[in-house]
Amino acid sequence: MSDTSSNQMWGGRFAEGPDAIMEAINASIGFDQRMAAQDIAGSRAHAAMLAATGILTDSDAQAIREGLLTVLSEIDAGTFQFSAALEDIHMNVEARLKEVIGEPAGRLHTGRSRNDQVATDFKLWVRDQLDAADGALVALLQALLAQAEAGADWVMPGFTHLQTAQPVTWGHHMMAYVEMFGRDLSRVRDARARMNESPLGAAALAGTSFPIDRDMTAAALGFDRPCANSLDAVSDRDFALEFLSTASICAMHLSRFAEELVIWSSAQFRFVTLSDRFSTGSSIMPQKKNPDAAELIRAKVGRIFGANTALMLVMKGLPLTYSKDMQEDKEQVFDAADNWMLALAAMEGMVRDMTGNREALAGAAGSGFSTATDLADWLVRVLNLPFRDAHHVTGALVALAEGKGCDLSDLDLSDMQGVHTGITEDVYSVLTVENSVHSRISYGGTAPVRVREQVARWQEKLS
Ligand code: ARG
Repeated sequence: MSDTSSNQMWGGRFAEGPDAIMEAINASIGFDQRMAAQDIAGSRAHAAMLAATGILTDSDAQAIREGLLTVLSEIDAGTFQFSAALEDIHMNVEARLKEVIGEPAGRLHTGRSRNDQVATDFKLWVRDQLDAADGALVALLQALLAQAEAGADWVMPGFTHLQTAQPVTWGHHMMAYVEMFGRDLSRVRDARARMNESPLGAAALAGTSFPIDRDMTAAALGFDRPCANSLDAVSDRDFALEFLSTASICAMHLSRFAEELVIWSSAQFRFVTLSDRFSTGSSIMPQKKNPDAAELIRAKVGRIFGANTALMLVMKGLPLTYSKDMQEDKEQVFDAADNWMLALAAMEGMVRDMTGNREALAGAAGSGFSTATDLADWLVRVLNLPFRDAHHVTGALVALAEGKGCDLSDLDLSDMQGVHTGITEDVYSVLTVENSVHSRISYGGTAPVRVREQVARWQEKLS
């Protein structure tokens, strides 16, 4: 038997090496080399455990652990020669280890399999990304809190259907996103806590007859405990799906905010000025300043949610346990992670740098009869009208103002009394935007006093 061209890791029963197409469809080294650091950390923990349990000699384990650091330094330095014939990061590292330390390298794979190895590496990689997302979300929340604090009492229109509804405060609007990204942060933390169990030692699928210590490797890699079922340990990709769904929901939030920034920065709105640092120009129209970062953030949700859908479909029909289909998990997660991190960082930069245009916000706040609800509430409170009747009377007053081409506060008292005789001069006090927002003091309402309470609550929470 000639094994010169068959795989050096598993080629024992093979007479021939793979077809070039087979190698092309099978190899994952082109992308899974991103898990090199995690692979080497997992192998070093495994080797230490094999020595502690007497499965390997201390000298073999020591040679393996040191050799793995040499391999890692080669990868970090960019001098490592990755080979598609060696399929993936796991076998590339092990083959190089053999070149570096010789025979003991062949003992590293005792009591484990690539199945628990890849699950471990990938979990460690995803866990690192969750930690990065945690930091990025906290930074974004802090940028939003700074905006909310500065503009806690700035008035602006609040919208439903993108039609002016009621006046709100800038701080209140910023704090709405704090709630949204705050939920994303709690999803990130929940996902991390739930996934933090070690697959290592599940071996191919059934566990191993070697007297391994899974608690030891779990602790060495920062896991809370080993996965309790070896079949589940090697076939589970929930952690990747939770990562992607968490990223998808957050990307959706980023996209909604990005959409508002696109609208708000337009000449028609002028609610915000984005910094030059987060804007681009046009090659033909010299006057243009475009919100490209916001537009790209708005678009990212497509590919991130696409990754989530793709992996869900990869997993949905797989019988237990490992199938090679699962190798398709990584590119989706890598791409989603890269783009999520980029979108979070870009949003943080835009929010930190942007300037709310207080005058334009205030000017728009009073348009579109935005204090009509305050007028209806006054009719209920002062004249004791049932709300439905008050709504009707207010509607008639809005129609009157619309006919005259003026605001509610510009109507004469006699005109108002023509619609309802009970209306008095006092009504004008509720028709200003300032009074409207200051009156909305219910818990969670837009009044500056409530907004400042929420800013303080979140600052405390994040400190
Ligand atoms: N490259 C593989 C992957 O990413 C590693 C696991 C291979 N396991 C196996 N039984 N072929 O899934």
